[in-house]
Amino acid sequence: MKKITCIVGTRPEAIKMSPVIIELRKNKNFHVTALATGQHTDMLIQALNDFGIVPDVNLNIMKKTQTLDYITASVLQGVGEFLDVHEQDMILVHGDTSTTFAAALAGFYRHIPVGHVEAGLRSHDLSLPFPEEANRLLTDRIAKMFFPPTQGDADNLIREGIDENHIHITGNTVIDALYAILEKQKGIREPEYMRKAEGRPLVLMTAHRRESWGETLRGICEGVIDVIHERNDVVFLIPLHKNPVVRDVIHECLDGYDDNVIFAEPLNYPEFVYAMNRSVFILSDSGGVQEEASAINKPVLIMRTFQKDQMRLLTEHVFLWGQNVRIFVMSH
Ligand code: UD1
Ligand code: UDP
Repeated sequence: MKKITCIVGTRPEAIKMSPVIIELRKNKNFHVTALATGQHTDMLIQALNDFGIVPDVNLNIMKKTQTLDYITASVLQGVGEFLDVHEQDMILVHGDTSTTFAAALAGFYRHIPVGHVEAGLRSHDLSLPFPEEANRLLTDRIAKMFFPPTQGDADNLIREGIDENHIHITGNTVIDALYAILEKQKGIREPEYMRKAEGRPLVLMTAHRRESWGETLRGICEGVIDVIHERNDVVFLIPLHKNPVVRDVIHECLDGYDDNVIFAEPLNYPEFVYAMNRSVFILSDSGGVQEEASAINKPVLIMRTFQKDQMRLLTEHVFLWGQNVRIFVMSH
C-alpha cells in the first residue's frame, strides 16, 4: 500500500484538494493522510468540513499577524518533522500558496516525490499575483508529478523543460468541488442575512489579494460606492476574509452604507455557491471564484491589476455581458 500525504493550508487549497482526497481514499491501494498546516484556521477547517474531511494532522501554525517568512519557515519545519517520523511514498500539494511551496520543499529535501495539483498556471509576472506566481514556479521546479488543469497549463510546463511523461492533465478540481456541492444545494433556504436583498439585484464581492492591500483595496471600495450612488437598488454581499488587514479597510470604507451592503463572515462553501447563483454579478480577485463563476455562467469582474493586453479582454467581457450595472475598472 502506498502512503500519500495531501497537504493543505488555506481555504482554496481545502476546497480544491477535497475531491482529490475523497477520490484517493476510495482506492484501497493508498493510505491517505490529510495534513493541514493551519496557515488558515477556521477558514480552512470550515472548507474541509463542507466535504466531510477532518485533518489527520494539524500543525496549527497561524498567527494573527504572520509574515511570508514565518509561514514558509514554520510549514517547512512542521511538514519536515512530520515526514521524518511518518515515511511517505508521495506528498501532494495544491496551487500556489506559501504552504504549497514550503511543503513541497520539505518533501524535496527528503527525496519524497512531490505531486503538484493545479500545476502549470502562470501569469508570467513575478509580481502578480504576489507571491503566488513565484510559489507556483518554485513548486514546479522541484515537483516530480504534475497535474495541470488544462492543456495550456501543461504547455507552460513543457516550455519550462518538464518531461511530458510526468504531466497528467486532470481538469480543474474546483469544478469537481463545485458540482459536488451543487448536488447538495437542492432545497437550501435563503439565509436570514439576505433579507435586505429581497427583490433587489445582488452583487457578490470578495477581495483579499496581498498586492491589493491598502490603496487598491480602497479604490475597489470607492468603485462600490460609485455603483451605489448610481444604482441605489443594488445590494452588495461582502463575505469578509478573516485577515484584519483586509477587513479593517473594507469596514472603514463601506460602513454606513447599510442599505446597500451586507457584511458577512466567511460563508461556508454551500452558502457561498448559493450566493454566487443568487447574484447578478460577481466582483472578485479570487482565482477560485472566477473559475466557479464561469462554470455556473455568472459574469465576474476580476479585480486584479492587469497588463494592457488583458485589459482589452476585460472590457469586452463587461460589454458582452451587458449588465445594467456600471462598473469601474479599479486597478492602478
Ligand atoms: C493566503 C495565501 C493566498 C491565498 C489566500 C486564500 C499565501 C502567501 N497567501 O493569503 O495565496 O489566495 O490565503 O484566502 O500563502 N486569518 C484568520 N483565520 C483564518 C484565515 C486567516 O484569522 O482562518 C487571518 C489571520 O490574521 C492571518 C491573516 O488572516 O494572519 C492572513 O492569512 P495568510 O494565510 O497569511 O494570508 P492570506 O491573505 O489569507
Ligand atoms: N469561498 C467560500 N466562502 C467565502 C468566500 C469564498 O467558500 O465566503 C470559496 C470560493 O467559492 C472559492 C474559494 O473560497 O472556492 C476562494 O478562496 P479565497 O478567495 O480565500 O482564495 P483564492 O481563490 O483567492 O486563492
